[in-house]
Amino acid sequence: MAEQRRDVIEILEHDHREVEEMFTELESLRGASTEEQQARRKELTEQVTIELVRHSVAEEVLVYPRVEKQVSSEEAEHAREEHAEAEETLQRLEKLDADDSLFDEELATLMEEIRHHIEDEEGQMFAHMRQVIDEDELRKLGERVEAFKKVAPTRPHPNVPNEALPRTAAGPAASLFDRMRDLASGRGTDN
Ligand SMILES: [Fe+2]
Ligand SMILES: [Fe+2]
Repeated sequence: MAEQRRDVIEILEHDHREVEEMFTELESLRGASTEEQQARRKELTEQVTIELVRHSVAEEVLVYPRVEKQVSSEEAEHAREEHAEAEETLQRLEKLDADDSLFDEELATLMEEIRHHIEDEEGQMFAHMRQVIDEDELRKLGERVEAFKKVAPTRPHPNVPNEALPRTAAGPAASLFDRMRDLASGRGTDN
């Protein structure tokens, strides 16, 4: 443990970079025709979904309430709305095969929504958090976010409001159900 612990903003920005890398690979596979490439597209889309859901629910439960209290309730609300929209897109995408003509369209929508959301978070919200929350607090919050992501849901649940309380109430059942389905189907590889 010689390494200095990352604070919450570093953790969330690292997640963003991972998602962007997956997006870039997905874009390079656009119009892919072989079965192997199609399978890779589907697999990457599943990984993006898992990562985005865990990340977003962690933000909704642990980060946005702090933003609401200490930074700006408008910024927190705006971010929740963007999550809700992207979650709808993720759910539509989950139902499509990679060779479905709608798949590319929904994927493009998702990438646009998420890239815009990342820009908002990093350009405004996170910058504002740095101004008002001290480094020690940001590190502690980072630890909680990392622990939370390990037990967070992995599939979109657009019927659950994007707020801390409903997310926490629905979380254990949703998360267990998602993870059992993932294990049964072999979806995702990292957990
Ligand atoms: Fe984020
Ligand atoms: Fe977010």
